[in-house]
Amino acid sequence: MHLRAGGVSVLLDVRGPGLPSVLHWGADLGTHLPAPAHLAPALPHSGLDVPVPLTLLPSAADGWLGEPALRGSRPGDADQRWAHAFTLHRVEVDGDGGVVIHGRDDVTRLSLTTRLRLEPGGLLRISHAVRNDGTEPYRLDRLAVVLPVPPVATELLDLTGRWCRERHPQRHDVSGQGAWVRAARHGRTGHDATLMLVAGTPGFANRAGEVWGLHLAWSGDHVSAAERTAEERAVLAAAELLGPGEVTLAAGEDYVTPEVFAGWSTEGLDGLADRFHDHVRARAGHVRLPRPVVLNTWEAVYFDHRLERLTELADAAAEIGVERFVLDDGWFLGRRDDHAGLGDWVVDPAVWPGGLAPLIGHVRRLGMDFGLWVEPEMVNVDSELYRAHPDWVLAARGELPPPWRHQQVLDLANPAAHAHLLDRLDALLRDHDIAYLKWDHNRDLVLAGHGGRPAVRAQTLAVYALLDELRRRHPGVEIESCASGGGRADLGILARTDRVWASDTNDALERTTIQRWTQLLLPPELVGSHVGPPTAHTTGRTHDLSFRAAVALFGHVGIEWDVSALSADDRAALAAAVSTYKTHRGLLHTGRVVHADHPDPAALLHGVVARDRREALMAYVAVASSASERPGPARFPGLDPEVSYRVRALDVGGPPRTLQGAAPGWLREGGAVLSGRFLAVAGLPMPVLVPEQALVVHLLAISEGPAPGHG
Ligand code: GLA
Repeated sequence: MHLRAGGVSVLLDVRGPGLPSVLHWGADLGTHLPAPAHLAPALPHSGLDVPVPLTLLPSAADGWLGEPALRGSRPGDADQRWAHAFTLHRVEVDGDGGVVIHGRDDVTRLSLTTRLRLEPGGLLRISHAVRNDGTEPYRLDRLAVVLPVPPVATELLDLTGRWCRERHPQRHDVSGQGAWVRAARHGRTGHDATLMLVAGTPGFANRAGEVWGLHLAWSGDHVSAAERTAEERAVLAAAELLGPGEVTLAAGEDYVTPEVFAGWSTEGLDGLADRFHDHVRARAGHVRLPRPVVLNTWEAVYFDHRLERLTELADAAAEIGVERFVLDDGWFLGRRDDHAGLGDWVVDPAVWPGGLAPLIGHVRRLGMDFGLWVEPEMVNVDSELYRAHPDWVLAARGELPPPWRHQQVLDLANPAAHAHLLDRLDALLRDHDIAYLKWDHNRDLVLAGHGGRPAVRAQTLAVYALLDELRRRHPGVEIESCASGGGRADLGILARTDRVWASDTNDALERTTIQRWTQLLLPPELVGSHVGPPTAHTTGRTHDLSFRAAVALFGHVGIEWDVSALSADDRAALAAAVSTYKTHRGLLHTGRVVHADHPDPAALLHGVVARDRREALMAYVAVASSASERPGPARFPGLDPEVSYRVRALDVGGPPRTLQGAAPGWLREGGAVLSGRFLAVAGLPMPVLVPEQALVVHLLAISEGPAPGHG
């Protein structure tokens, strides 16, 4: 069976009697395919006497000696029925790139359903479901999606991080045998979660090399791995991590894996990101454009909630051009600091004697949307909710797990707790004119049990159900996924939310890395990106407004700064930056994201190119001091070689600071007209920027051709 779309082929051997094997996942193979029998590999002297296929569910029964895709047993049976061997039962094709494969094992009494779809853009989606066809319970320990990559994929990139430093890449040589395993046991996606596991040809780069990448759409515990066996077989795998006994299937019950998204490209990481961005943008529920400029109150007032202070802030925000005003933590019962209040989702009359209506009314009259911070899954022991329902908390060993930011996690698999929360959130949205929720999740889940069993899975599904129901009841409300910054960014949560808060750090230098790598999966319009105060409270670094604004520009822009206290100059510069964002957000939020393979490690060159390639914004970012006296030319990727562009520096909150006797000629002249070919091949001289400064360049096609557009 040959699936082809978007320049990608997936070739499956569905002849049976075993489960289908993946003969190829990668470049389009054309129409002339060999007979599968001709592809049977040689048999080594010392090995199984039959060929070892790499099926969709690699297992010992097929001779696969790597990590099995499925592990489980029937502890109640004398024969524990752990040794599964599925036979192919039926294959259904929907004519739209979708295949459903049914397998059965009459000995372990399991049936397997694998859903596989090659989207028009070439992204492959896979999930498995296993059903207990027996009468005794089946304890499932692991069910992974495993895909082969050719042995030439000898280099691996995955992402890691921590609070305020999410999504940093790390690379490994995986030409040797063994496995590289990344497990995340945070009960949420995790700051260190590898958003994508990418294997590729040696030295693959932003725009070069053949790459294969997996993403697991799941917000609970999970594992991603790359493995190479002595038979020179290489695979990528992703699975939910299950705790002991967490999934025990009763007769007739099934378990469905989170969906795995698999991308392939010969154009390096940008080619891979394109596939994911195209998929995300084509989803029915993708965010409405244009993305409004946000002001979030957190770094402006923290817990200091006063109507007068906040109305002043709203006035200043509106004057600057803000379109959405988000009231962060501190508005609900007893929440004067982070020790108390979580769980009590009613407006605190002590600080808001007239409720939130006066502030919301003021914000709305200024023409802005109103947004509100909530952290629904959490509870402080010092809260009315906990005092009334101390048993509504995830726990194990009959005691509370260690606190984190003084908080515990509500057990949402408990129907009463779930119903209560749904009711409270529903009432908040019904009683107030709220366009947006910033939905936070500020701790890891540890020793999270329900009914004597690990409960991360149940909790994750319950949160999904809660979000789904709220969205059904309030379809106009947008939701942001925040988890101490970027601790919950994945396509599972993003199937029911509208953007991620990429990090709690607004330090623009940190953000260059965090946003670049978050955007390996997510297009810029889903990545919240705020201009913070001059000195970032998370790092102590101080940056010019021009740098902070130029970095924020390449996401969904907001402000997190006390704009009521700005000097007139800062206010004007910030308003100008906001207006620049508004002018260009159509391009920024529909175009292709590009990253040059720039030779100087002290600088980054990235941008967004309109899909018709008639307009682009590029940023040349000095992230450190360079070894050279002056930078070499910047070669701009992704442009149309046949088109001439008017190239100009774009003012985003002021010009960048430089250290040079004179600026490059084109900047002194106020711009230049250059062909896309020249810009890609010869490149443009860059100014000598002070470290931690950025130059943003606007390119607009001027030669004949279709009018500029972002479609
Ligand atoms: C978390 C979030 C922040 C802010 C605080 C409020 O840390 O990531 O953006 O909302 O909570 O307590």
